[in-house]
Amino acid sequence: MNIIEAKKNLGEKYSFSAVDTNKVIQKLKVPKNAKVLDVGTGMGSLAITLALNGYSVLTGEPSDDASVYANQNWLENAKKVKVDHLIEFKAFDAIDIPYDDGFFDAIFCLGSFHHINKTDRIKAIQEFIRVAKSNGIICFFEPSKKTIKMIQKSDPSHPEAADPNEYLQGLNLTSRKIKGSNFDAFVIEME
Ligand SMILES: C[S@@+](CC[C@H](N)C(=O)[O-])C[C@H]1O[C@@H](n2cnc3c(N)ncnc32)[C@H](O)[C@@H]1O
Repeated sequence: MNIIEAKKNLGEKYSFSAVDTNKVIQKLKVPKNAKVLDVGTGMGSLAITLALNGYSVLTGEPSDDASVYANQNWLENAKKVKVDHLIEFKAFDAIDIPYDDGFFDAIFCLGSFHHINKTDRIKAIQEFIRVAKSNGIICFFEPSKKTIKMIQKSDPSHPEAADPNEYLQGLNLTSRKIKGSNFDAFVIEME
């Protein structure tokens, strides 16, 4: 199924992120046989968009996350657009990723980084860096200011977006920002 059909099939919530994530995924040109990790499964939007672009994806979130953003029927959504065979779920916490050093070519994270406790974000970024290959990429999608304002209208306690650069100090890495309509991407290219 192509992305236009998937947007029709999965509706507005999916389309809202896919408009930006699909463009960036295509721009990054990660090889199709890459090992790809998606941190923070949610409703599966990012894992689905990666799969629609031909990637096999490993996705996960903490098993004990009781927030409204976790455990959101990703499998049902993936089945609707026929990519469930390309997505594997494994529960994990971003601060303790159960994979070896350098295991993944690409690590993606849509709308999840700002949901990680502020005090855990440095540890989470260190984990992303640890499990990324030396020439791999790490790509965060974080809500734009306009998107956060809109979310906070219905959920005033929703956290502000997080800028990964704030957590990279001292790690000798920076991220490149790609502005989107609803989500901005922050891409770290590993050396
Ligand atoms: C808004 S949802 C993300 C949406 C999702 N990426 C998608 O494509 O549909 C926020 C996600 O962050 C995850 N999350 C929160 N804290 C986390 C942590 N410490 N480690 C991994 N995931 C976490 C939640 O479980 C939830 O899946």
